[in-house]
Amino acid sequence: MSALVNSQAWQALSAQSRALAELSIGDLFAADGKRFEHFSLEAPGLFLDYSKNLVDRRTVGLLLDLARQQSLDASIARMFAGDHINHTENRAALHVALRNRSASPMLVDGCDVMPAIRKTLQRIREFSSSVRDGTVRGHTGSPFSRVVNIGIGGSDLGPAMVVEALGALREGGPDMRFVSNVDWTHLVGALRGADPASTLFIVSSKTFTTQETMTNASAAKDWVVSALGPDAVGAHFAAVSTNLRATAAFGIDPGRVFEFWDWVGGRYSLWSAIGLPIALAVGMDHFESLLDGAYAMDQHFREAPPERNLPVMMGLLGVWHTSFLGYRTQAVLPYAQSLSRFPAFLQQLDMESNGKRIDRYGAQVDYQTGPVVWGEPGTNGQHAFFQLLHQGTQIVPADFIVAARGEQELGPHHEMLLANCLAQSQALAFGKSQQEAREEMVRSGLSAEAADRLAPYRAFPGNRPSNTIMLDQIAPPALGALIAAYEHKVFVQAVVWSINPFDQWGVELGKQLASTLLSRLRKPGSEEGLDGSTRGLIRRARMFRNDAAPASGPG
Ligand code: F6P
Repeated sequence: MSALVNSQAWQALSAQSRALAELSIGDLFAADGKRFEHFSLEAPGLFLDYSKNLVDRRTVGLLLDLARQQSLDASIARMFAGDHINHTENRAALHVALRNRSASPMLVDGCDVMPAIRKTLQRIREFSSSVRDGTVRGHTGSPFSRVVNIGIGGSDLGPAMVVEALGALREGGPDMRFVSNVDWTHLVGALRGADPASTLFIVSSKTFTTQETMTNASAAKDWVVSALGPDAVGAHFAAVSTNLRATAAFGIDPGRVFEFWDWVGGRYSLWSAIGLPIALAVGMDHFESLLDGAYAMDQHFREAPPERNLPVMMGLLGVWHTSFLGYRTQAVLPYAQSLSRFPAFLQQLDMESNGKRIDRYGAQVDYQTGPVVWGEPGTNGQHAFFQLLHQGTQIVPADFIVAARGEQELGPHHEMLLANCLAQSQALAFGKSQQEAREEMVRSGLSAEAADRLAPYRAFPGNRPSNTIMLDQIAPPALGALIAAYEHKVFVQAVVWSINPFDQWGVELGKQLASTLLSRLRKPGSEEGLDGSTRGLIRRARMFRNDAAPASGPG
């Protein structure tokens, strides 16, 4: 048994999970008339109601003991101090510096990184406003009406999610598209209807070696060259990367390269120049407001006492659900169409960070770590997978995210959204007994016999946990705070689980194998010696491809 599982704090929580199994969320509300006040908290831009979880005051106290035992305070301090907390890559994880809005320095290896960050922000401001107002133009003198960001993972999901979320703020500015998938159709779709003379590409890649991004970038370059000639490349490409040598080799003018640094993890990078598409889409002032909101959350995370600290509580509740109650997945349900990409963004943030099984001492863990994160906006999900959430055999903790005010209040839409959001968490927590279901059916005219037969099907067990995170409105500061809160939640969990959330070695094997299989796909006979399944599938793919037409260029 690991020292963590053997520890007093962990064992006390295990015992507590057994004790609470006798109770329901409904019982906890019945026992405490002020439960909402006791189990909710406020942070900059966000309000968290966690009362609809199977926790009582003792559970929260024990979770806080566990955080203390795992030296959470010291770990938070080490992150903000720029220590090499990403120990497997021997790097700092100082994304918080990117949104440091104070005059204080932030150090990595003894150097203040703030001057370089401010300089890059200024360059983003100048470039984005010049593209938006048409001062910067394409090779033939046309202003840019379309911008295509080519990147994947952290170089795509964060900016794509924010651009979508802040869609209501778009005034003027280019049509912003995102291409991530190496699937040809993604690039073709982004270029449909585009005029090469007025299209700008941003190649976003921390490493500038990622196969999908480099393949799409080369195809985009060919598209520009074939329409406008080789001299046009400089005017139609910009890059965001830590690898300045590779951006130069690609042919991108150094004046169009926006730098970031190896102490910024890909999935934590939207605050850096990776956020350039955000500035292009909604303007730099809004991008800076996003940073302001994240900075306010950083301050809260550093300073608020653990029991009033939103990311700390969210992280500890996640640990409770995953490691003690045995729930394996976490639903994220934004009641906001503009947050439709938020679950996908969180999947990378959470699962690439905490999908780990080796602890920081090199030992395999003997407890559950990061859950499977998934979700879709409400109300759509209600008409799809909510059946399982309410009546299935698995319990899925859910985060409901909702704004009190709509981006635009048109007709009854926003109130309906809110009412649906509140109704779902209420139904999950408190359910409906067979007796209630039966009485309802009889009242609506069903025979007693039919009501008896159908009652089990129409009852809701309840006792299904959820958090509700409420924002005033989906606006840049609150969105910045929301994203930063989740980043810190993930960090809190990693500290408790004693894992490194900042590496991602688990993505490497597939990349290695894909590059060897690419050459094997192309060379008949070279599949010999592979495992039977892969060999068989290569042969089958070749059979299907024999009739395929040769590929042609995009657009
Ligand atoms: O393969 C995973 C990953 O390395 C992510 O961590 C990263 O966000 C993504 O690929 C893209 O990497 P890059 O920005 O270097 O192209």
